[in-house]
Amino acid sequence: MSSNLFPGPADRLRLDGFLTRELAAAGERVATGPVTPRLDTAAFRAALAGFDFATPVEAEALLSWTIAQLENGLVHITHPRYFGLFNPGPAAPAQWADRIAATFNPQLATWTTSPAAVEIESHVIRAVARRAGLPAEAAGHFTTGGAEANCTALVCALTRAEPGFAAEGVRAFAGPPVLYASKDCHLAWIKIAHQTGIGRSAVRLVDTDGTGRMDAAALSAAIASDLRAGCKPVMVVATAGTTNAGMIDPLGACARLACDAGAWFHVDAAWGGGLIASERLSGSLAGIERADSITIDAHKWFATTMGCGMFLTPHRAALSAAFEVSTGYMPSATRDLDPYVTTMQWSRRFLGLRLFLSLAAAGWDGYAAHVEHAINLAALLGRALRERGWTVVNRSPLAVLCLEPPPGCTGVRAIVGRVLESGRAWVSVATFEGRDVVRACVTHGETTAEDVDILVAALAAASDSLS
Ligand SMILES: Cc1ncc(COP(=O)(O)O)c(C=O)c1O
Repeated sequence: MSSNLFPGPADRLRLDGFLTRELAAAGERVATGPVTPRLDTAAFRAALAGFDFATPVEAEALLSWTIAQLENGLVHITHPRYFGLFNPGPAAPAQWADRIAATFNPQLATWTTSPAAVEIESHVIRAVARRAGLPAEAAGHFTTGGAEANCTALVCALTRAEPGFAAEGVRAFAGPPVLYASKDCHLAWIKIAHQTGIGRSAVRLVDTDGTGRMDAAALSAAIASDLRAGCKPVMVVATAGTTNAGMIDPLGACARLACDAGAWFHVDAAWGGGLIASERLSGSLAGIERADSITIDAHKWFATTMGCGMFLTPHRAALSAAFEVSTGYMPSATRDLDPYVTTMQWSRRFLGLRLFLSLAAAGWDGYAAHVEHAINLAALLGRALRERGWTVVNRSPLAVLCLEPPPGCTGVRAIVGRVLESGRAWVSVATFEGRDVVRACVTHGETTAEDVDILVAALAAASDSLS
């Protein structure tokens, strides 16, 4: 037995303590250092090549080396001036949950083997589903992220649309199955269409209305045209918080059109779902309660560690219809209890503990304050930049701004490039209604007004130098 793999209790305590201290020190350096990587790639690759896995490396040296590489070799989403795509600075209870899960390492495929863990996850899923307005009997599960949750939705939709789908796949449909999402949706839908066998061309990317939201009239026209052509509309996806611009599609109109077409109505609220925490702001999601299924990523606005998504549905039976399987070697196969017969995964990590501990520690009010803080900072950023001649081109209820620099200043990409080079903040380039924009999103729960000031100064310096 290798003591490097399984150190004795005293060594284990010493090494765990060492790791905790090293990580805390690294966290402090990261928060005050550059947001962007400072990796010497050639030196890093050479050092990496030195690991030939022939000679065991001493644990402290290995841990220190790894932390140093990550400190220099990542865009730091744990930095309060990471204003990027929605990857959060993780909440402490979510990090503790990872540690607990790694220690007990429960297998969540079945209730029989991990009853406490499976019940904790179900409890959180029910609470989130109720908070989103779904009925008391709603079900669901944790996923690796939004893409898996969205894929789950399509498998459920296809299974409901055509009883022969389970056995025959898409061959069972009389006409080609198609799904609708706005052209600003998250393009994992393209991969999902590929994986499920309906094919990439089955995704109808519906026009937006000039404000980044799905155009309901265009959706209606697309469905009518497909029906005339003999296609089978299986699902309408409304995005609640587009990745680029945080726009929320017209949920009520999408629900109605899906219902009229006999299609599954899915709300991809991977990011915007965080609004359910705030009673003041959740009205922006009106219509979500009509969904056949909802995606919410806990690893976005709920600030858990990556990857942690959720799939929620009022149709409990749809999950077993889509994922049922029977084997002799599993200890049980109970539809309402065993995750491996109601989800895509088989072996399953205890992901839901992250949200359980975070919600239990902060309460919905704590999360409401977290979400509202981000929105207030985004408003502050918008005001400061407008005063400097910038234009905010989106009107999102989330904490994201799509920005055009002052007239006369060209090159959004160059501006973003200069901000990243400075290391003072991280923003990205996005396209909003055909225009290149600087995208700045408040993602970190510890971002402050001073951080916003520093971002404003970095953007202003970059745009001035390019005018
Ligand atoms: C609206 C939306 N849906 C789905 C996804 C995919 O989620 P994940 O990356 O968690 O798989 C994202 C990711 O950014 C997203 O913004």
